[in-house]
Order: sequence, then structure tokens, then C-alpha cells
Amino acid sequence: MEQLIIHGGAGILEGKTAEAQKMHESLCTIWEESFEVLKKTGSAQKAVIHGVRMLEDDPIYNAGTGSKLQADGQVRMSAALMDGINNRFSGVINVQNIRNPIEAAELLSKEKHTVLSADQATEFCLNNGFSNYDPITPVRLQEFEKKCAGIHGTVGAVALDKEGRIFSGTSTGGIGCEIPGRVSDSSTVAGTYSSAKAGVSCTGIGEQITQQGAAVKIVTRVEDGITLQDSVAKVIQESDSFNYLFGMICLDSKGNFEVGKTSALNEVYYAYHDGEKIRTFLN
Ligand code: GLY
Repeated sequence: MEQLIIHGGAGILEGKTAEAQKMHESLCTIWEESFEVLKKTGSAQKAVIHGVRMLEDDPIYNAGTGSKLQADGQVRMSAALMDGINNRFSGVINVQNIRNPIEAAELLSKEKHTVLSADQATEFCLNNGFSNYDPITPVRLQEFEKKCAGIHGTVGAVALDKEGRIFSGTSTGGIGCEIPGRVSDSSTVAGTYSSAKAGVSCTGIGEQITQQGAAVKIVTRVEDGITLQDSVAKVIQESDSFNYLFGMICLDSKGNFEVGKTSALNEVYYAYHDGEKIRTFLN
């Protein structure tokens, strides 16, 4: 059974009807196109990369184009891809001046050394056919100048293909105004993880996701025979005891979905198909 779930971050859109509607429409389009890729190619990997690339290219999300600026006014992006069947994690941390960090994670999935950071990650991309690209948008520049008001970010996708392969992918511009060089959860196994049984992509405050080891913990519990629903509920319960603020999208090898969030978080901006229609955070 083929399945796909995507997210465009988390936060509060209460009272911002136009923004919520715009995000709903964007998520529906991206879900539809990415699911088409899943059906046509039969590849969970291709669907995840396609979905995350589209999310990175839409400036309303905090990833790729539209990434938030760090305290020194520079954009540094992070992304990861996890192949659940082959147990292969790859990613970039604080890469600069490229358009699609998820493509860098894909490229690194074929290398012996699968995670690169900072200037060396950028250099690797530029030496391997990536074009120089400025992901800063006027809106993000304005937010930075006003001390970073705006919604939370991070985008992600998890897919299951007919061959039973699960891939997860996550990409982020960070939290905005962070200490330059801060490492987000997204390009760690706390934020992005998959096995043959389940896959997870997280969104929210990176430090808290990392402290909980959220994605790898959920997947490990499913591996140990706990249902996806109970595995997510347990991580949420553990995280709520610290009043943490994050959420996640998940799916398992039977095609079950879960969208989880801690009590402190307002909502996760997700999209999936429930068999009847595309469901998002709005419907
Ligand atoms: N979850 C994204 C970040 O904290 O950077």
C-alpha cells in the first residue's frame, strides 16, 4: 500500500485565515504532485525528495527559499534523508547558498561519509553541480530586521512505497536569530528517522526534539512491537512533562498515519490522504 504524509512546519495560525488557507492550498498541491511521483515511479525516496523540494521552493515555509536568518543575518540550512530499508541516514548541516538542501542530502546518501556541515557542505554542493543561489526573501529579511517575528518552520515528508520501502526527509532554515552555527534537530536522527517498520519527520524546537530523541525513539518503539499510535503517544507524554514544544508526522509499514504534537504546540501543518480526501490541519 502506497502512502505519503507531508508537513510544512508547526506553530500558530489562529486568526490568520488567509495565511492558513494559503498553506492549506500549498500543502494539498504538494501532496498531490508528490503522490503522483510515488505512483508513477514506485519510489518512496523519489516522492519524499520531490515533496520536500517543492516545500523548500515555496517561500511561505521556513526551508530552502524563505529560510529564516541566523543572528548574523546569514541563512544556514539543514536537511536530512533517511532510507528505512537500508538503514542509511544522510544530511547537511548549516549549508549555504544552494536552493535545495534535500538534494544535497540525496547526493550524500551515495557517499561513504553521509553527513557534512557548514562551509565544507556548501563547498561539496558547489563542487558537485549545485548552482549558487540566494534563499533570502524580502519577508524573511523584514522579519529579521524586526527581530524575527513569524511562524515556526521546517518541512518534511514520509512515504511508503509498494515495495514496502519507507523514507523520511526533513529540511529547515532553523528557528531564526539563533547563534550562528546552531545545529537543528532536522539533520539528526532525533528529527528524521526511518526503519523498515516506521518513518518520522519532526518539527518544532530543535533542542527539545533532540533532547527527547523523538524520531528515533518512536521508530525504535515500533520496531519493538509497540503500535505507531502508542509509540507517538508515549513520546508526547514524556515531552509534555518538560513542557516541550514540537510535533511530528509518522507512518508505519502497514500504512497507518500519525500526526503528533505536544500540548504546548498549537498545531502541525500536515497533509495526507485518508482514503476519501486530502486531510490537512484545516479540515
Ligand atoms: N526544528 C527545526 C529547528 O529547530 O531548527
